[in-house]
Amino acid sequence: MKFFSNMSIENETLQLNNHSITDLASTYGTPLYVIDGDYIKDQCKKLKHSFKHKTLETEILYASKAFSSKAIYSLVEEMDLALDVVSGGELHTAKASNFPMERIYFHGNNKSIKEIDMALNAGVHRIVVDNLMELEYINSLNQHVNILIRINPGIEAHTHEYIQTANDDSKFGISFESYDLNKAIQCCVDSKYINLKGFHCHIGSQIHEASSFEKAAAVMLDQIKLLEHKYQLNVTELNLGGGFGVYYSKDQPITDFGFLTDLLNQCYGYISKHNLKIKKMMIEPGRLLVANAGSTIYEIGFTKTTLSGKNYLFVDGGMTDNIRPALYQAEYEACVGNKMTQPSQTLYTVAGKCCESGDVLIKDILLPTVKKGDFLVVASTGAYNYSMASHYNRIPKPAVVMIENQTARTVIKRETYDDLIRFDC
Ligand code: LLP
Repeated sequence: MKFFSNMSIENETLQLNNHSITDLASTYGTPLYVIDGDYIKDQCKKLKHSFKHKTLETEILYASKAFSSKAIYSLVEEMDLALDVVSGGELHTAKASNFPMERIYFHGNNKSIKEIDMALNAGVHRIVVDNLMELEYINSLNQHVNILIRINPGIEAHTHEYIQTANDDSKFGISFESYDLNKAIQCCVDSKYINLKGFHCHIGSQIHEASSFEKAAAVMLDQIKLLEHKYQLNVTELNLGGGFGVYYSKDQPITDFGFLTDLLNQCYGYISKHNLKIKKMMIEPGRLLVANAGSTIYEIGFTKTTLSGKNYLFVDGGMTDNIRPALYQAEYEACVGNKMTQPSQTLYTVAGKCCESGDVLIKDILLPTVKKGDFLVVASTGAYNYSMASHYNRIPKPAVVMIENQTARTVIKRETYDDLIRFDC
């Protein structure tokens, strides 16, 4: 398992930010998500440093669908980032954490009327409009609204098809070539209320090739140039979305933020050459900020060897706290957290406790021979794990503990069985 900066070993036991995983497990129970708050802050700092330009204004939005909670919102607020929310629930969480509304961007392809009202009443900074109907609805409110239009730039990125978002038939955004875009822009031009500040695109998630982002930026700038000219637009903002890949398992590179500086320079080159009015560039990473900050501690239960010789190791969670292996064939690394110096000699399949054959967290992994009561630690579970957790089989959601400045604290409580029946009538 790759060790991140917060991991160390003491007396055979894995330490996360100097807290032994056995102590964390006995204090907070398992399964347990442990989030390294210092790592997130560090990523924010590094990103801000790389995504900076001497002429262009820049802004980094945390795409909070990766992990939405009051504690994380407070942390990114402290780091002076802006926030991408995509639902009334995420907006409500941001409000509850006192996140400044003037740094919130409200996304979504099917915002409800209630959500749009909620966002406008809250005074969010920008509505990122996904489609023509949404724009026409917002226009009909006769209320001043600053918007970005989400474009589908038609870039095929190398990632799992479920997390591609910019192929021609994607449900997100409006394609440049589509008639809807002309109508949408004409609507903005004619409107007394809608202020079209700029454009947005997001080509997919867990993308490692810088060239995909460069292509998207080039397409966006080319088309903005044409639109600016055709409609005499004064668009000053361009948001290139998120999707930057992270390390989960071998063969995946560690993201080098240098490409963001190159991307900005590329954009600036075009903007200045063609005299475009864009003054502010944005990106909105989710995973990049939080994925490697998270680890999940499970207690190992029973083991079993099948007729054909497969060794199953069962943990006390599974697809309910990490759906990604089942949904996207995502691969994770893990270790037996209380046997760190023992040789990895047994080939296991790590499976969860859900009533579903697909509830497998790791297909083949060499680990020290385990016994019931050992602890399995799965790394890089900070993004899209808690936020996609479910109650399948009526399994309560685990607690989340954040460690910041050496201090661990519960930031989301463990659910109880009573929590599960709270809404049953
Ligand atoms: N901006 C927009 C408009 C998005 O739709 C997304 C992700 C992001 C930013 C952030 O993408 P990130 O930097 O985190 O890759 N559940 C999937 C990922 C779905 C991503 C959806 N949109 C997974 O677990 O891999």
